[in-house]
Amino acid sequence: MHLAPAVTSADPFVPQLYRVDHVRRELTDTVTLELAPRQGSRPDYVPGQFNMLYVFGVGEIAISISGDRAAAGGFVHTVRDVGAVSKAITALEAGATIGLRGPFGTGWPVSAAEGSDVIIIAGGLGLAPLRPAIYHVLANRSRYGRVAILFGARHPEDLLYRDELAAWRQKLDISVEVTVDHASADWHGNVGVVPDLIRRVAFDPHETVAMVCGPEIMMRFSANALRDAGVAPERIHLSMERNMKCAIGLCGHCQFGPTFVCKDGPVMPLDRIARIFTVREI
Ligand SMILES: Cc1cc2nc3c(=O)[nH]c(=O)nc-3n(C[C@H](O)[C@H](O)[C@H](O)COP(=O)(O)OP(=O)(O)OC[C@H]3O[C@@H](n4cnc5c(N)ncnc54)[C@H](O)[C@@H]3O)c2cc1C
Ligand code: FES
Repeated sequence: MHLAPAVTSADPFVPQLYRVDHVRRELTDTVTLELAPRQGSRPDYVPGQFNMLYVFGVGEIAISISGDRAAAGGFVHTVRDVGAVSKAITALEAGATIGLRGPFGTGWPVSAAEGSDVIIIAGGLGLAPLRPAIYHVLANRSRYGRVAILFGARHPEDLLYRDELAAWRQKLDISVEVTVDHASADWHGNVGVVPDLIRRVAFDPHETVAMVCGPEIMMRFSANALRDAGVAPERIHLSMERNMKCAIGLCGHCQFGPTFVCKDGPVMPLDRIARIFTVREI
């Protein structure tokens, strides 16, 4: 099954009206919202794509889709309060209206990874953009080789989707490794950085597809560890978060040479992304 990136059929510059159907507090500063279109049905998307969420009178920001594409209902987004717009989004209550443009961008290579071992590596909020890929791989488990999910957060209380993590850990046909940078007294799991987890799981480096999302330093170290283990750069996919405005390759806000992170990304293989990695946010 090939999943091609979905494109919105509406005018990509005009936010469509969505209703906040459900709000779930994940962490003190992070919520997950389900957004249903005021008219019509939710557009299709592929795991890894993002929407532009617009809070009227405040502003618009890029937010990855974190839900299950196969599930009925609206778009699911997990948002951390870091500034003006994200604060306004995390303060929304059920019934509120929000503007939404999308979906935009490229997806995780879930189709290309069929037949290969899969390593999914997430740091902090980076688990949100990867969650749709995890749902897809688990729903189509027989199409993949060995599957490993490696996840790290700063503290135990920063671990996202704790209930789901616990459920994934119960599965016998995937490896799930979780680590924290700083343990509390009641933490009995791994302590250390996520890239260190790579050596704990079995995979064939020549037949592995890796999907990595998190803070850039964590992605850089993870990519290096994967390369050291023998995984080719074109098999290592990362999601780049760069400031965006138009999200359709017109304004140049996210441009690095010939590459537009909004339309050539956010998910790109390491061999394409390596140069962008060396450039700080503009
Ligand atoms: C493709 C993509 C997917 C994203 N997915 C998610 C997601 O699923 N959940 C989520 O909470 N956030 C996500 N982000 C990040 C989100 O867009 C930013 O946190 C947001 O733009 C901050 O806006 P603000 O007005 O709330 O804060 P601001 O006041 O603009 O900024 C607050 C802080 O966040 C930093 N920042 C601002 N914009 C970005 C940006 N685009 N990327 C990274 N840091 C930024 C600033 O440097 C500053 O330190 C994504 C970004 C991109 C580009
Ligand atoms: S955000 Fe405008 S070109 Fe990418």
